[in-house]
Formats: sequence, structure tokens, C-alpha cells
Amino acid sequence: METRVSARRLSVLLGPRVAGAPAYGWLADGIRRLVADGRLLHGTRLPSERELVTALGVSRTTVTRAYGVLRERGYASAVRGSGTVVQVPGGPVAGGGEPLELSALQPSGEDVIDLTCAAPAATPGLNRAYEWAVERMPSFIAGAGYFPLGVPELREAIATRYAERGVPTDPDQIIVTTGALAGLAAIFRATLHRADPVVVESPTYPNSLRALQHAGARVVGAPLVTEAIDDVAGVIRRSGVRMMVAMPDFHNPTGAVWSDEERARIARKWRSSGVTGVVDETMSDIWLDRPIDARPMAGHAPDCVTVGSASKTFWGGLRIGWIRAPHALSGAIARARLSMDLGAPVLEQLVVARLLRTQRELSAESRQRITDSRRVLLGLAERCPGWQVDAPAGGLSLWWHLPTESSTALVTAAERRGVLLAPGSLFAVDGRGLERWIRTPYALDEMTLRRAADAIAEAWSEVGMRPGAVRSH
Ligand SMILES: Cc1ncc(COP(=O)(O)O)c(C=O)c1O
Repeated sequence: METRVSARRLSVLLGPRVAGAPAYGWLADGIRRLVADGRLLHGTRLPSERELVTALGVSRTTVTRAYGVLRERGYASAVRGSGTVVQVPGGPVAGGGEPLELSALQPSGEDVIDLTCAAPAATPGLNRAYEWAVERMPSFIAGAGYFPLGVPELREAIATRYAERGVPTDPDQIIVTTGALAGLAAIFRATLHRADPVVVESPTYPNSLRALQHAGARVVGAPLVTEAIDDVAGVIRRSGVRMMVAMPDFHNPTGAVWSDEERARIARKWRSSGVTGVVDETMSDIWLDRPIDARPMAGHAPDCVTVGSASKTFWGGLRIGWIRAPHALSGAIARARLSMDLGAPVLEQLVVARLLRTQRELSAESRQRITDSRRVLLGLAERCPGWQVDAPAGGLSLWWHLPTESSTALVTAAERRGVLLAPGSLFAVDGRGLERWIRTPYALDEMTLRRAADAIAEAWSEVGMRPGAVRSH
């Protein structure tokens, strides 16, 4: 199935015609801007010339000329049987997915679909935010450009977002970082000593696990709060832990969300056990069916440290995240951060400040795209006998339960068919087991995911029934 844009939709996206300029120039430039800004994706079929003539009320010559200009400049190509199709000049850059330990060194290329990464394409409107930020740069270029805690207007915009979510926040509590992972690393460096026990739900996001291990922590696995909160409380009580790293909003990889009751209970446990809660809210904005119906963890546990990110909401390539720290810890974290780097790039900080002020959260267009993509991969339930999933209300991945211990074999079979997957064991706290689980991120576009789903279903038909696999009882 190909993606197409209707003449009506294109006319809405283009907006009113600019008076004075020749019509073909306005049309060609308008479409070029939509491509540059991610509103028309690479491979989208444009309306036929005839349809566009009717929708825009322009002459046939205008449309023919505009399409000709776009083809000349590499923004479109004529495809036999499909008319004119949008192109990004030079094509999308292969790779660029968020690296997990296993995937960073994997071959990537046009024919490989990388499902090890759970990161969506940029928000529509990113390019415009960059243009705005470039215009603001002269005020900054006059100075040295170091903002180790963050550019003031971004720190304010982030603090405002917390306040809007019901957690009053002073901009002084915000430290801008080069992504959520860098934020976590700075927190761990500031607060942990060698061999300090830290509780983490298992499965979990592998990169933050590695950051903990590199900080010398002794990671203690616990079940998911949403499945066995009593057991989690027991682990905290017994292990004398100093810290718990939590993902209450669309946990990666399961997509689980903690209820207000669960948040309140864990917050009480942290307080009574002297545990520092570190809350990873990277996925908080990625609600698909309905917004999260619970207060942010910082509302329940004022002493917790929160990390957030622009990576999933706006774009991973911005490399902007942040820490929200209680006043008592912000100085120590800021100092630890200075031993790692001296700040995030100013231009990207301005872009994020702009996006937080104008768009505030995940755009409706991105939400629709991700929802459509999720539907494609949920279809695996019908194609892969025995696969089970709790459909998540948000986040970027499905966490499938397999009927046999065949996660690693499935990864190998899928790779032979050009799809890279991360096995369940990668998400285990001790790096082993979880052979009955596989994560399938649905952050890529619908068309690519249809190809991926075909390959995964085929791989499963080879692996699932292989003799020797341990069947469930
Ligand atoms: C739970 C979680 N934390 C942190 C990160 C890393 O975020 P960033 O790109 O902001 O470093 C990710 C990225 O997938 C994630 O899923």
C-alpha cells in the first residue's frame, strides 16, 4: 500500500496563495517546504495534475510547471503507474536509528528494516522551528555560547511544561542535557557509589541499565510495578537499596502505565526506605489512545529526580533532554554533569524551546502516524499463532509473549529476511532469559512496517514450530 496525499489535503497544507508571486513558483515552493518540514514524507504520491487543478483553482500549465520544477530540484520523481511521487533530495539517510547495544554495529542500509530502535521520525514543523532558531542566533553569537545548565528560555519552557502537568517547577531545578540518557548518567554519577544497590523493573530499557552498570551500581531486578507491586515493595525493603529507576509512563518495552494509586504507594515506599526515585519520562508524551490519567511521579514524590527528553516527542536528532531535580540535589547533579560535558548545543536548545512553546507536546499528525503504525504491528497477533500482547495505550513498542522459548531464534530468522529485532534477553536486568518475549517497536512508517510484519510472520512460521522448541504448558 502506498502513501498518498489527496488534492484537498494538499490544498489545506499549502495554505492561501501568496499574492504577487507566479503561481507555479508558489506551488513548487509550497510543496518543497512541506517535504523539508516532514509533512509530506518520502515516497508519498502527489495528486494527479487534473485533481490539483480543480482543488487549487489554478491552470494545468501551473501544475505541470510546478511538478517539473520539483522533479528538477530532486523533490519529486515520475514513477510509472504512480504519477508524481515525493522525494527527499538525496533520499533519506540510511541508519539513524537509536542504537541499542546489539544494533549499533549491525549492517544497515536501504533493504534492512531496523526494528531495534523505538524512535519515530521528526515532528512536522521541525524545519520551521530550526528556521526560527537560526534567526534568534545573533543574540547568542555575541557571547561565548556555553550554557552548562541550559539556555534560560529553554529551562523556563521546560519548567512551564511541568507546571502545566500539575508539578510547579522552578527553572533553577532544570538542567538541560544532551538527551535523557545523558541525564540519567549524570544523576548516577552524582549520587551513586560503587556497589550501591539500585532497583530496576525487569524488563527494562537496556541503555539506562548499561549507564547504571558503568556507574558501578549493583542492579537488583524487580518485577513490573503494574504486575506485582507487593513484590517490588518487598525487593526495596529487603535489598537496602539507595535508588530505584522507574518508568511509570509507557514503560519501555512493555508500554505499561502506573496508576495514581501505584504511584502513591511507590512514592511512600521510597520515602520510608530513604530511596531516591529516578523517574524516566522519555515516553510520557507518546499517548495514542488517551492522555495518561495520573499525576507525574514528581507530584507524588517531591524528592524524586525526573528526566525528560525531546527525542520521542520532537526528534531524536536534536539530542536534547533534561533533568528536573529537587533543590537539594540539583547542585551535585550539575557538578557531575560538568565532568561529562559542558552543555548542549545552543541552536538545538532554541529549537526545543520554540517547539515546547508552540506545539507543546506530540503533534496530532505524529500521533496519527504512530497510531496507524501500531495497528500494522498489532496485526501480528493474527498472523503469528500463539503470540499475545497487552495492547499499550501509548509508547512506541509492543512487548509480545511467545508460546515457545524462541526469541533469539526468531531474531536470527528475521535478520535473514532483512529485519533487525532485539531479543527479549536484551531487556533483562541480568542480560539473560526472557526467551519467551520479543519487542517490536512501531515507530517506523506504516509502509515499512507492513514489509517488516510480512518478514516477521514468515520468520515465525519457520521458528515457531521448529522441533526442539520448548512449548508452553
Ligand atoms: C525509556 C527511555 N529512556 C531514555 C531513552 C533515551 O533518550 P534520549 O534519546 O533522550 O537520550 C530512551 C530512548 O529510546 C528510552 O526509551
